[in-house]
Amino acid sequence: MFFSVLTLFPELVTTMVRESITGRALEADLFAFRTHNIRDYAHNDYGKVDDTLYGGGRGMLMMCQPIFESWEAAKTDCDVESDSRLTVYLSPKGHVLNQALVEKLASYNHLILLCGHYEGVDQRVLDEMEVQEISIGDYVLTGGELAAGVLIDAVARQLPGVLPTPDAVRQESHFNCQLEYRQYTKPAVWKGREVPPVLLSGHHKNIDKWRQLDGIRETMLKRPDLFQSLKFDENIAKEFVKYCRDMELDS
Ligand code: ADE
Repeated sequence: MFFSVLTLFPELVTTMVRESITGRALEADLFAFRTHNIRDYAHNDYGKVDDTLYGGGRGMLMMCQPIFESWEAAKTDCDVESDSRLTVYLSPKGHVLNQALVEKLASYNHLILLCGHYEGVDQRVLDEMEVQEISIGDYVLTGGELAAGVLIDAVARQLPGVLPTPDAVRQESHFNCQLEYRQYTKPAVWKGREVPPVLLSGHHKNIDKWRQLDGIRETMLKRPDLFQSLKFDENIAKEFVKYCRDMELDS
């Protein structure tokens, strides 16, 4: 997987990607990453990349030409068929990023990420590049760089070898649209709060069952929208009802 980022602030994205787990994966060549400073592609002495809006209105808009030329350069970062490459425009108007979309993005070989600034980007260059518009949530950031960092982090951790334990992805929140079970470490009692006894039992089958049911309960309580679309068989449904009853009796 190659991530090419078109940005006015290359260091902002680079700092995020070079740290922690993604940083180590990058060092180990588990994926590749390169930034292109859009300003370097401006055809003027001042590196001007924006201009006022046709039709009037506040603010400035990023112009077509420097973005397009930075995109043409980014395409040569990674020699793949065009259907293995996707150009993403990070924008508050885009499809909101979720785990299903992250997994789909992880199936490409080359992602080119365009970070917007100011009031946005001239529509014609977005159309020419056939971008997929993606938002990281229903709020507005000052630019797309933080969003690009979020997207790269979420996609990179899907790639083989990036996470220290290979099956970690299968257990965590949002795998199969379900949240992860609650977790505990030592001591067994802290400020009078006890770890659920089953987790101290050493009985792996019971622990796995508890985790499965607790994950369902977490989803029900914290993300009823996800819970609504969860599908499980009748046995699990019965066990889950019993589990919730037992929890109520305990508390
Ligand atoms: N740029 C500005 N706001 C954004 C958002 N919410 N998601 C992605 N890119 C953005």
